[in-house]
Amino acid sequence: MRFLINGQPVEVDVDMRTSLLDLLRDHLNLHGSKKGCNQGACGACTVLADGERILSCLALAVQYQGREITTIEGIAEDGQMHPLQRAFIEHDGFQCGYCTPGQICSAIGMAAEAKRGMPSHMTRDLGAEFITLDRHEVRERMSGNICRCGAYNGIVNAISEVFVEAE
Ligand code: FES
Ligand code: FES
Repeated sequence: MRFLINGQPVEVDVDMRTSLLDLLRDHLNLHGSKKGCNQGACGACTVLADGERILSCLALAVQYQGREITTIEGIAEDGQMHPLQRAFIEHDGFQCGYCTPGQICSAIGMAAEAKRGMPSHMTRDLGAEFITLDRHEVRERMSGNICRCGAYNGIVNAISEVFVEAE
């Protein structure tokens, strides 16, 4: 199978039943994406496919050939941390860090969804062309990413610093 992962073409011979998460972790040594529940309930495995957030534990790798996959290892640019990575550090957005790669990938995908006008349960104007994020939107839209350490205040602060306009 052929993939494009963090901008690099990759060719690998794996079982057709391999999940995208197992492909990343077990076959490509990209251990940033975490296996929390392996059943779509925790968000620790979140990666971006063409900029959209997906749960890689529920994705069959074979279906993602030809898509651009970005993992936490590909978020930084030119050796510079992504602003969200910096904000997580500044705001203590983690404790053990297990959920963090998924939180960061998810938040980037989440902000793109809002930009495209995809409403959430908290959105008042369902017809808006794009949605301006506030903390309520952030909390709702990030609710699929569980943090067992309960670092939620720091997580919301970090994401808000980067994606929420003046409150
Ligand atoms: S490991 Fe994929 S959602 Fe928990
Ligand atoms: S920082 Fe430990 S699970 Fe979130």
